[in-house]
Amino acid sequence: MFPSVQVDSRLAIFAILPASFVVIKSLQWFVGNKLPPGPVPLPLLGNVLSINTKEPWLTYTEWAATYGDLVFVRLLGQGVLVINSQHVAEALLNKRSRVYSDRPYVATVKPFGWSDNFAFTSYGDEWRLCRRLFHQTFCPDSAFNFRPMQIKRAREMISNLIDDPQHYHSHFATFSLSVAMSVTYGYQTCLRDDPLVRLVNDALAIGTEMMTPERAILLKIFPFLLKLPNWCWGSLIKRKAQASTDLMTETTEVPFRYTKQHMVGNSAHGQFSMVAENLQRMEKQDETSKPLFEAALKKAATTAIIGSYETTTSVLMAFALAMVSYPDVQKRAQAEIDSVVGRDRLPTFEDRASLPYVESVLRETLRWQPIGPIVLHATSSDDIYDGYFIPKGTIVIGNIWNISRDEKRYPNASTFIPERFMDANGGLTDDDPAEYVFGFGRRICPGRYAADASVWSAIVTMLAMVEFSPAKDDQGKVIEFTPQFKTGLI
Ligand code: HEM
Repeated sequence: MFPSVQVDSRLAIFAILPASFVVIKSLQWFVGNKLPPGPVPLPLLGNVLSINTKEPWLTYTEWAATYGDLVFVRLLGQGVLVINSQHVAEALLNKRSRVYSDRPYVATVKPFGWSDNFAFTSYGDEWRLCRRLFHQTFCPDSAFNFRPMQIKRAREMISNLIDDPQHYHSHFATFSLSVAMSVTYGYQTCLRDDPLVRLVNDALAIGTEMMTPERAILLKIFPFLLKLPNWCWGSLIKRKAQASTDLMTETTEVPFRYTKQHMVGNSAHGQFSMVAENLQRMEKQDETSKPLFEAALKKAATTAIIGSYETTTSVLMAFALAMVSYPDVQKRAQAEIDSVVGRDRLPTFEDRASLPYVESVLRETLRWQPIGPIVLHATSSDDIYDGYFIPKGTIVIGNIWNISRDEKRYPNASTFIPERFMDANGGLTDDDPAEYVFGFGRRICPGRYAADASVWSAIVTMLAMVEFSPAKDDQGKVIEFTPQFKTGLI
């Protein structure tokens, strides 16, 4: 019975595909090639000169005020559709995910050695295999089992923060990677100065800021920059690309080799990891499929590390900044923990449902400084939406920043107000920024369950054990500061 169902559904797909093509083409005939509104492009250059390449979401948000939820612009010859609302993002990226799940070509990915990150892989079979391998380890049921380890690592982070508070960024980074390294490779990071944490940090330091289409434009227009001899003026980008590639290769190969070498010992101790489990599975496969499978596994593993590192660390940095800037919020969250958990023990996941204010602090942290202010997809076929034609190959930008700054939904949006997520009875509202900060559709962040639990365990443990306050000078006076954000991919 099943085969005939499969055959029928395949036949149905063959019937639907040409039919939907005909529908799109006939709609296009009515609509013409009417593109969504946007600023007038210059010949050849398009709108490229109007974009703030460091913080492009600010330009997209200004355009949203003039042109609305859908804005179409051109960067050189490339069509770019900016989606400025959650409603349209869901209508296109979620509901029409078959069309909107590709990634744009970013000219720096390959030269900088970032091809081993499936977040950049085009929508197709290779991406599907990587995503499936990733999902087996990071789906909600499996991620649930990480919780005791996440709490343990969060407590270790506290001892680092107490011993050496100045290097809080480094302790957040070690925490973020310790969870991912353990789950992915079965590698247990040292409490401090771990060599693999240093390697990932160094690898990302060179490459991340070059991985956005706005920044990659230089290489797209002048690809010969990668061919200049090292002594020549303008060869800096080539040298950076080489250094980045070397470090990314090490980031992929070193922990993978570690798992291969320690597989027997780790499984004897009941420690499993994504790489070890799949390498065992691979043993049973026929020889011809092994190389493809191993390459996909390496990619899935590298992406788990890169996907975890800056994201989780940046959310914790935003949280620290919020606690320093809004001491009353910190006090209220600590008072909630004291009254629910008491002072004789530390919070665990069993307390989570009883700590709604802490939950609203987490939601507000994700909204207040969305660490991925834009997501980048691309269309793999033509589409028509709301009377507008959206061509195949368009870069589609989900402007999360604009969603987070919607003054009707979030009055005083630039202020940190966790209470906006609480109702009159002290419970949580239905508005959860996790519905947009992790992206949309088939490309939605597959690490979101692990990320949510890591961030919660870190936040609740820090609130229970440490106090964030501004640094003071020698005379005991508070040092005034202006927050600065470093932007790149995150
Ligand atoms: C709070 C922390 C995190 C945030 C806010 C976040 C956010 C995002 C966003 C916005 C995207 C792009 C989605 C889209 O294109 O629509 C993404 C992709 C991705 N994230 Fe996360 N992420 C976080 C943590 C993590 C963690 C811990 C992991 C790994 C365990 C991870 C793995 C990935 C991967 C693999 C992708 C690429 C998915 C694909 O292209 O198919 N992320 N994330």
